[in-house]
Amino acid sequence: MRKALYAGTFDPITNGHLDLIKRASKLCEHLVVGVMENQAKKPFFTSEERVKMIRGCTKNLPNVEVIRFDGLLADYVNNNQIDAVIRGLRATMDFEYEIQMAHMNARLYNKDVETVFLMTTPEYSFISSSIVKEVFSFNGDISGLVPKVVLKELKRKFNK
Ligand code: COA
Repeated sequence: MRKALYAGTFDPITNGHLDLIKRASKLCEHLVVGVMENQAKKPFFTSEERVKMIRGCTKNLPNVEVIRFDGLLADYVNNNQIDAVIRGLRATMDFEYEIQMAHMNARLYNKDVETVFLMTTPEYSFISSSIVKEVFSFNGDISGLVPKVVLKELKRKFNK
């Protein structure tokens, strides 16, 4: 794969996402991490904060670029020579949502674009951005589940 896209809300990035970014970056020449908006979600961090945190923890990965974009994922893919879209699967519950999105996106691509599913590493299979924020908000321990830069930003935002 020459250029792949890994898109998400990343509100905030977790070690599960980071693990996927590292593995995906070995499978392609250039990986674009796209910070997007999911219409069903109201983000806690601004898109600028989300981009900054991801850049902070991927700066040692030379072929990874972090950008922010709005609109349809398929439009970005069509306009930016993307040949594969990376998605992570944590458990069977992700499958139905993912297959629906993959089929809809495939209809919207104007060329052959593969959706590549990577299985999440088992130690991160139970985490999500929401669960991490919730546990942190009640002073629960989330060390080891998010990058250090995220822990710092969560402390700042929650004023802890
Ligand atoms: N490790 C840890 N958590 C993970 C994970 C992993 N490997 N993979 C997914 N997750 C979590 C995410 O943190 C997220 O948690 P949250 O619900 O608590 O925020 C949850 O699983 C769902 O992740 P994902 O499926 O990637 O959703 P998303 O909201 O992050 O991203 C978009 C979805 C932005 C890619 C999708 O809505 C989109 O493409 N939007 C653009 C508009 C568009 O084109 N719509 C038509 C689509 S067909």
